[in-house]
Amino acid sequence: MTPKPFLSIEGVDMTFKRGSATTNVLKGIDLTVAKGEYISIIGHSGCGKSTLLNIVAGLTIATSGVVLLEDKVVDQPGPDRGVVFQNHSLLPWLTVYENVALAVDKVFSRTKSAAERREWVMRNLELVHMGHAKDKRPSEISGGMKQRVGIARALAMEPKILLLDEPFGALDALTRAHLQDQVMQIQNDLGTTVMMITHDVDEAVLLSDRIVMLTNGPSARIGEILDVPLARPRDRIKLATDATYLKCRQAVLKFLYERNRFVEAA
Ligand SMILES: Nc1ncnc2c1ncn2[C@@H]1O[C@H](COP(=O)(O)OP(=O)(O)OP(=O)(O)O)[C@@H](O)[C@H]1O
Ligand SMILES: [Mg+2]
Repeated sequence: MTPKPFLSIEGVDMTFKRGSATTNVLKGIDLTVAKGEYISIIGHSGCGKSTLLNIVAGLTIATSGVVLLEDKVVDQPGPDRGVVFQNHSLLPWLTVYENVALAVDKVFSRTKSAAERREWVMRNLELVHMGHAKDKRPSEISGGMKQRVGIARALAMEPKILLLDEPFGALDALTRAHLQDQVMQIQNDLGTTVMMITHDVDEAVLLSDRIVMLTNGPSARIGEILDVPLARPRDRIKLATDATYLKCRQAVLKFLYERNRFVEAA
C-alpha cells in the first residue's frame, strides 16, 4: 500500500474575474508532496506561482479542485502552514522579539506557559542566528536579517509545512547563499516539509528534492517534475562541478528557456 500523501493538490484551477474580464491562471494542477520533502515551484514571472502558494496557504480559494493537508481540506489560513513572503512582512512597530512572540502567543497560548513561550521565541530566533537583535525594530536591521526573522516566525508556529514565496529574492547574492545554507541546515535538522517558489535555477537545484516546472500562463500547468537525486547535506562548492547537479540544472534551464520561453503577456 502506498502511503497517503502529506500534502495533496487535486485538480486545482484558478480563474480571476474582474468585471467581464476573466483570466484562467492555473489549469488542472495535480501535485502530491511527501512529509519532509523540499519541493520547489519554478516558472516565468506571472505564470501563477504565488497564486498556487496562496491557495495552499488558504489565502486564496481555488475556483475548482481541492488542497488537502494530512487529509484536512485547506479552506483558510492556519498555523499549520507557515508562510514567508518575498517582501519582508514584519510589523514595523514591533521589535524582532515581539514580531515572533505575536505568532507564538497566538498559537501556544493554551499549551505553553508565558515562560515557555518566551524561551520558544528565543530558541527560534537563535535558530536563524538573530537572538542578538531581539530588541531591534525591522527598520534597524538588513533585508537578509528581516527574512531570517520571517523564517523564525514561521518556524516558531511549528507548522506542518513551510511555504516560501521567493524568500531570498530581494537579497544580494552573498546573503542569499548564506540564508539558503541556513534553511538547508534547519530543514535537515527539523525534517520540515517545504514548498518554495523561486525564479532561480541554481537555488531550486541546490535546495530541492523535486522541482515542479510550470508552463507559461495563462492556464499554466505543471509541465514537468524533476527529481534531484543529490545526497544531503549538500555543499554548494562541491556541487558546482558535480555531474548530477549540472544535469539537473541543464534540465531546468532547457525547460525554461527552450521549451517555455518567457512571452510578455499582451
Ligand atoms: N487577485 C487577483 N486578481 C486578478 N488577477 C490576479 C490576482 N492575483 C494574481 N492575478 C494574475 O494571475 C497571474 C499570476 O500571478 P502570480 O502572482 O501568481 O504570478 P507569479 O508566477 O507569482 O509571478 P512572479 O514570478 O512575478 O511573482 C498574473 O497574470 C496576475 O496578474
Ligand atoms: Mg509571485
